[in-house]
Amino acid sequence: MRPGNHTIDEQRQGEAVGPRSGTEGGRKLYLESYGCQMNFSDSEIVASILGEAGFTTTQQQEEADLILLNTCSIRDNAEQRIRHRLQHLKGGKRKNPKLKVGILGCMAERLRDQLLEEEKLVDLVVGPDAYRDLPRLVEEVEGGQKAVNTLLSREETYAEIQPVRLDDKGVTGFISIMRGCDNMCSFCVVPFTRGRERSRDPKSIVAEALDLYNKGYREVTLLGQNVDSYKWNVDAKGNVKDADEPVVRFAQLMDLVSDVNPDLRVRFSTSHPKDMTDEVLEVMARKDNLCKYIHLPVQSGDSGVLKRMNRGYTREWYLNRIAAIRRIMPDCAISTDVISGFCGETLEEHEATLSLMKEVRYEMAYMFKYSERPRTLAERKFEDDVPEEEKGRRLAEVIDLQRVHSRERMAAQCGPVYRILVEGPSKKDSEEYQGRNTYNGVVVFPKGDAQIGEYVYVQTTKCMAVTLRGELISEQEAQEVGYIA
Ligand code: SAH
Ligand code: SF4
Ligand code: F3S
Repeated sequence: MRPGNHTIDEQRQGEAVGPRSGTEGGRKLYLESYGCQMNFSDSEIVASILGEAGFTTTQQQEEADLILLNTCSIRDNAEQRIRHRLQHLKGGKRKNPKLKVGILGCMAERLRDQLLEEEKLVDLVVGPDAYRDLPRLVEEVEGGQKAVNTLLSREETYAEIQPVRLDDKGVTGFISIMRGCDNMCSFCVVPFTRGRERSRDPKSIVAEALDLYNKGYREVTLLGQNVDSYKWNVDAKGNVKDADEPVVRFAQLMDLVSDVNPDLRVRFSTSHPKDMTDEVLEVMARKDNLCKYIHLPVQSGDSGVLKRMNRGYTREWYLNRIAAIRRIMPDCAISTDVISGFCGETLEEHEATLSLMKEVRYEMAYMFKYSERPRTLAERKFEDDVPEEEKGRRLAEVIDLQRVHSRERMAAQCGPVYRILVEGPSKKDSEEYQGRNTYNGVVVFPKGDAQIGEYVYVQTTKCMAVTLRGELISEQEAQEVGYIA
């Protein structure tokens, strides 16, 4: 969720996480996460569950007793990356025969025991709903056996598990508000790897946000594959389950979380165009700490392709949702996901995506070549008939166009004073800090006496390719000239 023309895979490649503490003598866990933010959030649950079982996380792979890769299956190249990573781990196992290696997450769920056959190095395979079983499974593995649990659940939300925060800055955190997905977009493997959609108790979500605030965090991102279908106390048929419990949908949940503290910023991902309501937009518009940024994946600008993708909306419907955002929050930043070269995509249909992009002018986009996934509707029903080279050519056109729009949008953000949450040193210059404005735009500025985790006021002065630059000003000055919260 950072501006720039990156795919999710490129953006977060197997980040190692930890350590927060180091108890001498205990067993050490090296945990690496791939894929979407949900996986990064799940890794914090895994660290918590294994922490209870006596493991501490380490960033030194060499000292690990257990290496776990939390994997992604979204595109074929995401899986290939894991297979390469496993090849690299072979040496480690040769040096330390007691080292155990496990695969978690979506690839574990998709391939199950087949993974043990294919990758001899792997000792442990655990799917996303089976993490509570990890201590037992690890014990089996330590006893010399191989262990697998890929049972999916209709209820598991890990609601009461206190995640071990693995991001060492302690300013921004993720909160999973739901798991799974019921949408069955024809290209997508997620419903198979993550199972049925279920929402988490709002009380536990608010408690987690409050706990993060009390620990010094100043921003939370609410995570779900389709946050707009979040619902609590409503069954699948839409009936209220318990008259004493309030019905909470996403709009109410945002209200509740934003009430934790006005200084706790709230972001969310991902919205689904078919389900995004005006009510959610109105709640966002009302509150400064609900950030004015929406990631609204379009996938394609052509209604025929959208139908084959089983997305549940047309080009017109999508543009109507964009119009609703612009009407209710004229300044809201919007980003998207695009797939190039889906089954049967004609040149005309590809052009329709470009024309939609020109109409919306996104702040940022994640753009991908279509990658056929086993068991999906598209794999069974349609032919993956756009040649690889042509997919690449179309993707390049999409990326080039987005680059123009990103620059244009970035330039339009330059000039005002922004209230910025300081996240840490800038990537390029350690003498400078960076943070984000409400629109998720990255702003870089000289450190002055700013502190990480604080809000500061920055007068933006210059627009770089994907960031803004500026100077710190005092709160009083900001109030005098006016600022964007
Ligand atoms: N739940 C989110 C998306 C999760 S996957 C949503 O519905 O928007 C993130 C992105 O990966 C998708 O939006 C899509 O653009 C891309 N993606 C998913 N499956 C893909 C596939 N088989 N090939 C290429 N890209 C894919
Ligand atoms: Fe996949 Fe569609 Fe669900 Fe997103 S909404 S996770 S693209 S099935
Ligand atoms: Fe990948 Fe699974 Fe997320 S397939 S994108 S890690 S839900």
